[in-house]
Amino acid sequence: MRVTVVGSGFVGQMTGMRLIQEGLADVILIDIIEGLPQGLALDMKQSSPIEGFEPNIVGTNDYADTTGSDVVVITAGFPRQPGISRMDLLGKNAAVVRGVVEQFVPGSPNAIIIVVTNPLDEMTFLASEVSGFPKERVIGMAGVLDSSRLQYFIAEELVVSPSEVEAMTLGSHGESMVPLPRHAKVSGKPLTELVDGATQERLYARTRDAGAEIVALLQKGSAYYAPSAAIAKMVTAIAHNTEELLPVCAWCTGQYGIHDVYIGVPVRLSRAGVEEIVELDLNEGELLQLRAAAEGIRAKCADLTQL
Ligand code: 2OP
Repeated sequence: MRVTVVGSGFVGQMTGMRLIQEGLADVILIDIIEGLPQGLALDMKQSSPIEGFEPNIVGTNDYADTTGSDVVVITAGFPRQPGISRMDLLGKNAAVVRGVVEQFVPGSPNAIIIVVTNPLDEMTFLASEVSGFPKERVIGMAGVLDSSRLQYFIAEELVVSPSEVEAMTLGSHGESMVPLPRHAKVSGKPLTELVDGATQERLYARTRDAGAEIVALLQKGSAYYAPSAAIAKMVTAIAHNTEELLPVCAWCTGQYGIHDVYIGVPVRLSRAGVEEIVELDLNEGELLQLRAAAEGIRAKCADLTQL
C-alpha cells in the first residue's frame, strides 16, 4: 500500500516512522519546506538496519511523487499553541487543507483521505467538499485518539494496565466530545460500578481537555505520540481490512438520527474506507449530546463556506 503523509511536523513525521517501522506501507512524506521531508526520510532510513525494517520512505516537496496513493493522511496546518483553541485555527487551516487537497487529488483519485488537521471535524468536511470523493473515502482521525486518552486516564485512576480498559468517545474532537460511560469497562466490569459520578466526570473533562493540557506543558506545538499512533491504527484497519470497530469522524446519513454532517461515530474500516457506521445502543441523554455536537459542527461548516 502507498500512503502519502502531508505535513512533516511532529505528527506527520512520527506517522511516517510508525508506518514504515510496522511495514504497513510505502510512505511518501511531503511538506512545503524544502529539505525537511527529505532530511527526515533519510534519518528514518538510516535507522532501518538497526531496527530491521524496510526503508520504504521518500521525502519530497513535489506532489507528482504522491501519484497513485491508496491513502493520504493530511497533517499539514498550524498547530495549537497555548491559549489557541482548535476552533481558532479554522480560517488559517482551511486555506492549507484546501490547497493540499487540490494538489494531490488529480494524481490519487482513488485514495482514502484521513484528515488530522484541526479543527478536525470541519477540516474533514472541507476535504470532502474540495476532493469531491465519495464520503466513505474521506474520514477524520480523532475518536481513536480521544478514546485512547480516556482509556489511559481510567487505567491511571484505577491503577490497572491500559490493556484492561475499554472506552470510547464519540461526537466532536473538541468541547462537544461525547464520552460513553455505559460503554466504558475495566476487565469487563462497567466503569460506572467502579468509580463514582464525580470521578467519571473528572476523567471525561480531562479527556476533553487532553490536547490542551499537553499544549500548555509543551508551550510550543501539540501532541504527536498518541495522535500518530491513532493514525497508524486507522491505516492498519484499512490496509488489513480488519473491520474492527473504531470511532472515526465520518459522514452520517441518518445514523443516530444525524443527517449530512461529519462527526465522530463508531465505524468499520476496510480497503474501501467506511464499510459501515455502527449504531451502538445509546440512551436518550447520550443521543441528545451527540446530536447537539452534530449541530455545532454543522454550524461551523456553514461558517467555512463564508471564508
Ligand atoms: C490534540 O488533541 C491538538 O487536537 C490535538 O492533541
